[in-house]
Amino acid sequence: MHANSRPVTSKQSGPHEQLIPLLERHRNSPFKKPIADANRQAFEQSMAAWRKAGSAPLIIDAGCGVGLSTLNLAQQFPNSFVIGIDQSADRLARNTTWPGKLPANYALARADLVDFWRLLLEARIFPTRHYLLYPNPWPKKSQLSRRWQGHAVFPTLLALGGMIECRSNWKIYIDEFAAAVTQLSNQPACCEAYFVAGPKQTHDGLPAPITPFEEKYRASGHALWRCQVELAAQ
Ligand SMILES: C[S@@+](CC[C@H](N)C(=O)[O-])C[C@H]1O[C@@H](n2cnc3c(N)ncnc32)[C@H](O)[C@@H]1O
Repeated sequence: MHANSRPVTSKQSGPHEQLIPLLERHRNSPFKKPIADANRQAFEQSMAAWRKAGSAPLIIDAGCGVGLSTLNLAQQFPNSFVIGIDQSADRLARNTTWPGKLPANYALARADLVDFWRLLLEARIFPTRHYLLYPNPWPKKSQLSRRWQGHAVFPTLLALGGMIECRSNWKIYIDEFAAAVTQLSNQPACCEAYFVAGPKQTHDGLPAPITPFEEKYRASGHALWRCQVELAAQ
């Protein structure tokens, strides 16, 4: 694993000054982008896999990359069903090495989360947990609306409710995420430091890294941040 990842740099020194007005615009104007057929199909297929496995409590691994976190979450929550979603066919197709037998309680889907989250809400299917692990930071000031908290789909994600956790190696991303949750849900959310165990620290109580990006950032000595919040479904 590479230990040479550079920390995120940005002209922003704190949450974007346009974040709150942007959130208010998104709160007040419904997001109407048409849903792509391919995403609807991927949604139906993963819902069929979930139902076939017994409709256990659902966990969404949003932007799962190669799917390693999906496998780790499936192992961590054996009584849930985990769907790992990524828009990159290339990443999903990479052969993730996994020691031992693969867990049975997971599926991977190639889809755009912007549609997948809206389809879940439309179907009134409410996951118990959502993980957004190391989303692309889009650190330029002009890229605010590409970050999840600045995207028009963000109110939909919050409306799905459940435990929502976002992790990043860019503190400002998580500060913004927490501010956006607080603004839209009226529920306090905060950014906290997140620590993972090193390769030889298996007995210190820290969780092991569960995604390739988490491992890469740990190996590069980056601080990690997370926002974890429990919201009621709407
Ligand atoms: C920085 S990578 C992190 C991958 C993985 N979570 C990890 O920690 O190793 C971000 C991932 O989000 C995916 N992604 C970005 N926007 C997406 C979208 N709108 N829908 C689905 N996946 C998306 C990318 O394809 C990429 O695999």
